[in-house]
Amino acid sequence: MDKMWAGRFQKALNKEADDFNSSIHFDSKMYVQDIKGSIAHASMLVKQGIISAEDFNEITDGLSSICDDITSGALPIDMEAEDIHMFVEAELTKRKGDVGKRLHTARSRNDQVALDIRLYLRDEAVEVNELLYNLIEAILEQAKKNQDAIMPGYTHLQRAQPITFSHHLLAYAMMFIRDIGRLSDAVKRMNYSPLGSCALSGTTYNTDREFVAEKLDFYGITQNSIDGVSDRDFCVELLSCFSLIMMHLSRFSEEVILWSSWEFKFVELDDSYTTGSSIMPQKKNPDMAELVRGKTGRVYGDLMSLLTSLKGLPLAYNKDMQEDKEAIFDGIETVKECLSIFAPMISTMTALKDNMYKAAQKGFINATDLADYLVKKGLPFRSAYKIVGQIVAKCIDENIVLDNMELSEYQKFSDLFQNDLYEEISLETCIKKRISAGSTGYESVEKQIEYVTEFINGKKDIY
Ligand code: ARG
Repeated sequence: MDKMWAGRFQKALNKEADDFNSSIHFDSKMYVQDIKGSIAHASMLVKQGIISAEDFNEITDGLSSICDDITSGALPIDMEAEDIHMFVEAELTKRKGDVGKRLHTARSRNDQVALDIRLYLRDEAVEVNELLYNLIEAILEQAKKNQDAIMPGYTHLQRAQPITFSHHLLAYAMMFIRDIGRLSDAVKRMNYSPLGSCALSGTTYNTDREFVAEKLDFYGITQNSIDGVSDRDFCVELLSCFSLIMMHLSRFSEEVILWSSWEFKFVELDDSYTTGSSIMPQKKNPDMAELVRGKTGRVYGDLMSLLTSLKGLPLAYNKDMQEDKEAIFDGIETVKECLSIFAPMISTMTALKDNMYKAAQKGFINATDLADYLVKKGLPFRSAYKIVGQIVAKCIDENIVLDNMELSEYQKFSDLFQNDLYEEISLETCIKKRISAGSTGYESVEKQIEYVTEFINGKKDIY
């Protein structure tokens, strides 16, 4: 294909160099945004008297039909083209002759690509946002169903204190709510139009950048043309949002994997989200959760690769910046895929409440409550802590749990112990008595459910 910039050259580009230089195999997915941006640009050109009304009509007619034809498949994208911007412009010129050549007035591919990628990412961010909402909803439904499911809460992966499964799940809902806040924050900062920055220094034409920005629903324009074409910090910011989403998903995945092991058996994943083994007939593997955990590394890699590509780049545009797309596209695709699979995996998961309860009965997770019992009877916490430590040691020796030790034995440690201690250290009481805000207590969890519900219904503002 003849290059638009061929005029200055004596020789054609080497075939391999041409392929190496081309970005069409990954940037063609921005064709809708490229055409939308060009139509807005052409509207500005005609308003400012830079092109005629007839040319404008021809250009927009040509661009719209190109868009329709690419979408319907009638116009296959030529993978020999240098990039999507060149392809669309060449096709317009093919269809409309010289008129098509007027489109690129007062514009450069540098500001064009900076615009297209913003438009593309803005659309994609809406989808990621929706998927996050779906996941929060799935978590919320499970949280509602499992308010009475008592399980051990862990620190250091050692049984620590009793919590409800609902409380544990809601912790993830809060993380994903913050992820939504972070994403919308990043999109806000990205939502300024660079178009009209041209190659780097602006243009001698009397353009109206604000008009284009408004037409394309941006908050305004980027204030410095060099910055407008040089910066990709919004891609880095989005990738860091995606990395955080994946980090949260990976922790959740890890727990789902642990919970569905024979050692825990706290949950049963639905058959439709698990796989079998080719050799071990008994196996039911949590592959989806494992893949999500694995793909987290990939999204971190996308973030690192983009940061590294941008490091030390002089202003303004450099071809290195073409590398932004594969990283950000892969990050988006991966996070979308993971969120799409995770939400139904969570909503179809069954909590095995009896197993959770049994696990909570072991491991002395009511020891803190036993110490609190003594404190409420007047003992300083440190002394109570020491006594309970000795009692736990004795129980371990005798292979019993706190609930099974005789009162007379308890009284050998302290005469503050009475019969009411058993009620006090029952798992239900441990939960019920957690009255602090945000705690695992039944009422507190109910409030957290309300909080998340209000957030989902759009009644609660995000961070
Ligand atoms: N395909 C290029 C990219 O993605 C478009 C910008 C090209 N600009 C240039 N001066 N060669 O970055």
